[in-house]
Amino acid sequence: MERTLVLVKPDGVQRALVGRIIARFEEKGLRLIGLKLMAVSRALAETHYKDLAGKPFYPGLIKFITSAPVVAMAFEGPGVVAVVRKMLGATFGTAAEPGTIRGDFSTSRGLNLTHGSDSVESGAREVALWFKTEELVAWERTLDGWVYNTEDREPPKK
Ligand code: RTP
Ligand code: MG
Repeated sequence: MERTLVLVKPDGVQRALVGRIIARFEEKGLRLIGLKLMAVSRALAETHYKDLAGKPFYPGLIKFITSAPVVAMAFEGPGVVAVVRKMLGATFGTAAEPGTIRGDFSTSRGLNLTHGSDSVESGAREVALWFKTEELVAWERTLDGWVYNTEDREPPKK
């Protein structure tokens, strides 16, 4: 089953937006399977952002993500990676559409409040990187029959 990692970054925690950001995903109907507040070690930050090493903004990004606690969330469900990316909006808050999380709450480039896995492969890798197996909860949600119908659970039609 498809999984994605969402982070409320240090700016979101410092700005007391954690509850409102989590609420967006709850309201959408996404199924939460992991949730925690944590300090981010330099080692974790560097592993998470390894594909961006060498970019000019990389040192600042590592400094930022380790500067205050983050809230890490894992969601599971059909198409959940793309759904979350749409809900976050464009990378920079300055460009993100109103109605998206970044578009509604961020007016910065780097201080964009959130992270979302960028592919199904990244989602699997990042959830496994940020959560121990025992921190992920498999649960039957009675709501699921009203959120996803049988058609939604099939692979998307080409
Ligand atoms: P994210 O990983 O946080 O969900 O964001 P993204 O895929 O849209 O963007 P990505 O290219 O993966 O960049 C990761 C984070 O690095 C910061 N960034 N700053 N100053 C810059 O030019 C710049 N470019 C990227 C942002 O915090 C971005 O979310
Ligand atoms: Mg990214």
